[in-house]
Amino acid sequence: MAGAGASAKAGAVAETGAEAKAGAAAKAATPAPAPRTYPEPDEDAVIDLAGVTVTRSGNDLLQEVDWQVREDERWVVLGPNGAGKTTLLSVAAARLHPTRGRVAILGEQLGKVDVFELRPRIGLSSASLAERIPADETVSDVVLTAAYAVLGRFTEEYDAVDASRGRTLLAQFGVDHLAARLYGTLSEGERKRVQIARALMTDPEVLMLDEPAAGLDLGGREDLVRRLSTLASDPAAPALVLVTHHVEEIPPGITHALLLREGAVVAAGPLAEALTAETLSKTFGLDLRLDQQDGRYSARAC
Ligand SMILES: Nc1ncnc2c1ncn2[C@@H]1O[C@H](COP(=O)(O)OP(=O)(O)OP(=O)(O)O)[C@@H](O)[C@H]1O
Ligand SMILES: [Mg+2]
Repeated sequence: MAGAGASAKAGAVAETGAEAKAGAAAKAATPAPAPRTYPEPDEDAVIDLAGVTVTRSGNDLLQEVDWQVREDERWVVLGPNGAGKTTLLSVAAARLHPTRGRVAILGEQLGKVDVFELRPRIGLSSASLAERIPADETVSDVVLTAAYAVLGRFTEEYDAVDASRGRTLLAQFGVDHLAARLYGTLSEGERKRVQIARALMTDPEVLMLDEPAAGLDLGGREDLVRRLSTLASDPAAPALVLVTHHVEEIPPGITHALLLREGAVVAAGPLAEALTAETLSKTFGLDLRLDQQDGRYSARAC
């Protein structure tokens, strides 16, 4: 072993002479990779990402992600902690510009559109948005203020149509009886439902939910999955993107899946093709068995 190490060292020393010069010349002659050109955005796509890369502190949070979501599609985004799901949603919801790549949302290209006009067309519910909801706001105001893309009611005037829509959405998620309650007094499950009602308030063309079932008990999760399934199965409902860690939380009605690991897409496409024991195992880095019954999924280690 010592001999092999020595000869490798000797090789390295020899390279400091003419060979190293030749090496440098060869390197200089290697053409730099051509910058990637992106196809024109698909006009029918609600979300159209091409080569999206997000780099922070030298790490790629997302690597060359290509993804298209169409109007009638309902997507689940699956991946372990830190895979880049929230980062992906932030880009797709016009909250974050990528380091590289082309992003088109609802036919508008990021960088060429006023994001403040674009954002009300996208319903987003995430833990970071939820944290900013004032505890002393009434539930009905939490939903109503979405119409003005603000949190915290000040002097805005809301018309009766808005109030009635807010009430209908609260009813759709089974929390209309809480309309007069202060948001801070709600349970985690009740808050989640109010957050989704808020995300739907602007009648968005796409709805993005980041871990809507996180922190819910079994009954709360099942109730939410049922309501999301009703939404996903409604042809009049907006395109849907749902982020989760758990296949058990995929509501029947979801049509497509994107699986993410370390910022890269493992699989993306129609649910039955993209979500398999193999792709799921690769995504989570362990051997998993995937079962499906009555439109619901479950997974466990082999
Ligand atoms: N501003 C930042 N600077 C450096 N790293 C960051 C930054 N923001 C996020 N990250 C890292 O990027 C990775 C992806 O984060 P992201 O929140 O998108 O993951 P996630 O898939 O949503 O994870 P989780 O399932 O835990 O919510 C994580 O490792 C996170 O620590
Ligand atoms: Mg996340």
